[in-house]
Amino acid sequence: MRSLSSNQLGIQLVKEYGHLPLVECYAGQLNQVFMNLLANAIDALEEYDKERSPQEIYFCRSTIRIRTEVTDNEFVTIRIGDTGPGMTEEVRDRLFDPFFTTKPVGRGTGLGLSISQEIIVSKHGGQITCISAPGQGTEFMIKIPMRSHPLELTLAVPSCFG
Ligand SMILES: Nc1ncnc2c1ncn2[C@@H]1O[C@H](COP(=O)(O)OP(=O)(O)OP(=O)(O)O)[C@@H](O)[C@H]1O
Ligand SMILES: [Mg+2]
Repeated sequence: MRSLSSNQLGIQLVKEYGHLPLVECYAGQLNQVFMNLLANAIDALEEYDKERSPQEIYFCRSTIRIRTEVTDNEFVTIRIGDTGPGMTEEVRDRLFDPFFTTKPVGRGTGLGLSISQEIIVSKHGGQITCISAPGQGTEFMIKIPMRSHPLELTLAVPSCFG
């Protein structure tokens, strides 16, 4: 039998999907937000694992947790959390600034979160917040009002998390 070395364990994905009603949204744009948050989480976890020992990686698996639920009978709430390195307060304060990135030149444009914020707040009347601290991982929370009624919207939040 072949045993897996720790760097072959990869990232564990935990899905906790609540029952969501159909919600009016710009589905393509929301997918762009989710993809950016997931790409950020993967980047953070991969970088973190380069610093962690095989034992640490084995006993504390790199994990991304996606949770969806209805909150306050009013919002569809989506949380994307990771067990990565977390962020300093300095990074957290600038997270949504256009062109803010800590990634090497050529890796990140620093636009992902500013575009995500624009999509959630301006296009959907929602909120995007982040809880993170060094060594504590990171969690982004998105809240989208279930009744926003802007024109041209498609019914699609549940299908993003089918
Ligand atoms: N899950 C996370 N864990 C730790 N740091 C994060 C996480 N998500 C974002 N960050 C920090 O926020 C910065 C800004 O993220 P953002 O998505 O806006 O840009 P980027 O990922 O650097 O570049 P782009 O998304 O344009 O490729 C990142 O460079 C990183 O420092
Ligand atoms: Mg990004």
